[in-house]
Amino acid sequence: MNTPIQEWPVADCPAHRFGLAVERWRRLASRSFWITGAGTGFGKALSVALACAGAQVFITGRRREMLQECIETACSLGADSRRIISVPADITREEQVAHACRIIHDHCSTLHGLVNNAAMPQRRSHPWPLQHESLAHWEQLFRLNVTAQWLVTSKILPHMVAGGEVRVVFLSSGAGWAFTPGVGQYNIAKAALNNLGASFAHECAAAHPEVDVQINVINPGEARTEMNQGSPRSPYTLMPMMLLLLSHPRGGPNGRFFHADGRHLSFADAEVYDRRLDGNDTIVLAPPPQRSRLASLAARLLRRSA
Ligand SMILES: NC(=O)c1ccc[n+]([C@@H]2O[C@H](COP(=O)([O-])OP(=O)(O)OC[C@H]3O[C@@H](n4cnc5c(N)ncnc54)[C@H](OP(=O)(O)O)[C@@H]3O)[C@@H](O)[C@H]2O)c1
Repeated sequence: MNTPIQEWPVADCPAHRFGLAVERWRRLASRSFWITGAGTGFGKALSVALACAGAQVFITGRRREMLQECIETACSLGADSRRIISVPADITREEQVAHACRIIHDHCSTLHGLVNNAAMPQRRSHPWPLQHESLAHWEQLFRLNVTAQWLVTSKILPHMVAGGEVRVVFLSSGAGWAFTPGVGQYNIAKAALNNLGASFAHECAAAHPEVDVQINVINPGEARTEMNQGSPRSPYTLMPMMLLLLSHPRGGPNGRFFHADGRHLSFADAEVYDRRLDGNDTIVLAPPPQRSRLASLAARLLRRSA
């Protein structure tokens, strides 16, 4: 599909629906989602957009005041304050994740989706962090950017499985496909997250064949957030792809990689998604999957050694 990155004035979202077809936008109103890192950046934009579409939204982060600001922004745009519920938590702490899951369970019988968005950037205290950064920073970054993503997903999964619909999106980054010097720990954690997303997708689909499982990974492109204050782009540029993934009816992609601009990406041996996602659910065959030369070589070698 073609979802060019463009600015979407959030105040007009009931009119433009971030490019979503009317049925898809309306479908969101009957859905419930949990968004981590919802007090700022992409997480806030998504929570506001979903609340404006009428969805029930559980918003998590450590700073209560940022979550409150998110609620106020959504309500100032016409969202119903009863549909956006603050669930403060540090997602690196198991007991806080368990408590958040209980709150969500008490508020809604069926949770449809989870967006694993919270993360931290690479600390810039050394130009060459893989050589000089501390073990403590490595562990802190991996605990949030990888381990906590698994923890949150695994703890809330039974709630979604019970409702028969599982929509999970992991926020990755171009870093997960890159080797940029200076941000090695972040690159590695995002590459691990890519595998976590796809592994979860395949395991969950195999374990629950009767359930509509759609677990995918997105590279959101850049945007101006607390983590990236230099970007000229608004985090609302990600909304078309996020809302498409979260509103997709049964039979949508699982274990795939997408870019905010609508491209289907590959990762390691995973091929690009072979169908088009668009607002009208049109199924269109994409060009033949393009494997990287490295991935093809690796697959050939594996076949030979098998
Ligand atoms: N912005 C970009 O250009 C860009 C590019 C590629 C990928 N991304 C990815 O996009 C996602 C969102 O980032 P962003 O750019 O929107 O950055 P951001 O504004 O810094 O958002 C990160 C959020 O995570 C929350 N958070 C941090 N630690 C947490 C914890 N232990 N428990 C719960 N929440 C926690 C923060 O809130 P509290 O501090 O209140 O907890 C904050 O709201 C991340 O996965 C990031 O890697 C961003």
